[in-house]
Amino acid sequence: MSGEESARGHGHAKVILVGEHAVVYGHPALAAGLSVGIAATARPGSGRLRVPAWGLDATAGDDSAVGRALAAIVRRLEAPALDFDADAQVPSRAGLGSSAALAVAVARAAAAAGGRAPNDEAIDAAVDEAEAIFHGNPSGIDAAAAKTGVAGRFSRADGWRPVPVYQAIRLCVGLSGRPRDTAAQVAAVARLRERLSVADDILAALGKLADDAGAALGKGDVDGLGRTFDAAHGLLCALRVSGPELDALVHTARAAGAIGAKLTGAGGGGAVIALAPGHERDVLARWKAAGFDGFVAEIAATPKVHP
Ligand code: MEV
Repeated sequence: MSGEESARGHGHAKVILVGEHAVVYGHPALAAGLSVGIAATARPGSGRLRVPAWGLDATAGDDSAVGRALAAIVRRLEAPALDFDADAQVPSRAGLGSSAALAVAVARAAAAAGGRAPNDEAIDAAVDEAEAIFHGNPSGIDAAAAKTGVAGRFSRADGWRPVPVYQAIRLCVGLSGRPRDTAAQVAAVARLRERLSVADDILAALGKLADDAGAALGKGDVDGLGRTFDAAHGLLCALRVSGPELDALVHTARAAGAIGAKLTGAGGGGAVIALAPGHERDVLARWKAAGFDGFVAEIAATPKVHP
């Protein structure tokens, strides 16, 4: 790469449809990469990363989590002499996989700058190491979803498997405004497992609901998908990972016509998703009136293959 050239990489934001936390314990989860995400550009430099939308400016090896993750990425990809600018279309720490999307975008840009193939294994290793710095003991679902723009089932044993989507699904995404802390929420569930005898049953039920949700997506059963959202939110409340803003967003969405709503991601803060066919604008308007921002995201239908 010459001084004037730049290389690019992109990572998708994601929503976990059903199965967050359960996936940490080996159960399946269903997630979808969103069309929005983070685009990174690499150019000759000295290991600096800027994300203006988040007011973030870090240097590889500084003592911030981003600085340590960046150091891991440039070491794995043997790319210390690069600077990165990232255009973020999603908020940070909102439960939408922003850290994985950033890691994937930066790793892909670094790989492209070094002339590596887009599927180079060093990219996966770099992203996994960055995610471990951000989240402690991640299941890997955020990184897997950030690499793809489609729906998929993820488990530690089977990895990421794309899931067919019969018809496009529009989801309302509501932002609590409270930053989520994935590592803290995962640690809280680990502590609860030692004190609540049914915690493992709840986690297993969430994994089963993830497969029910996957079957509903494949059949175009929107009501069935909504039921899994409501049941999953109840179970996540039982695991104590919801919070007042998330519950308010869920209840407001249901009052505005949603047929299912739940927190998405680690919880505590972050975001909710609501399924409200034909009522998306009502949901966003009620959220706005209650002081919450939101947007509509689409999970694309799987293209039909004609023989
Ligand atoms: C975070 O997006 C999802 C969690 O299940 C953590 C993980 O799977 O690493 C809460």
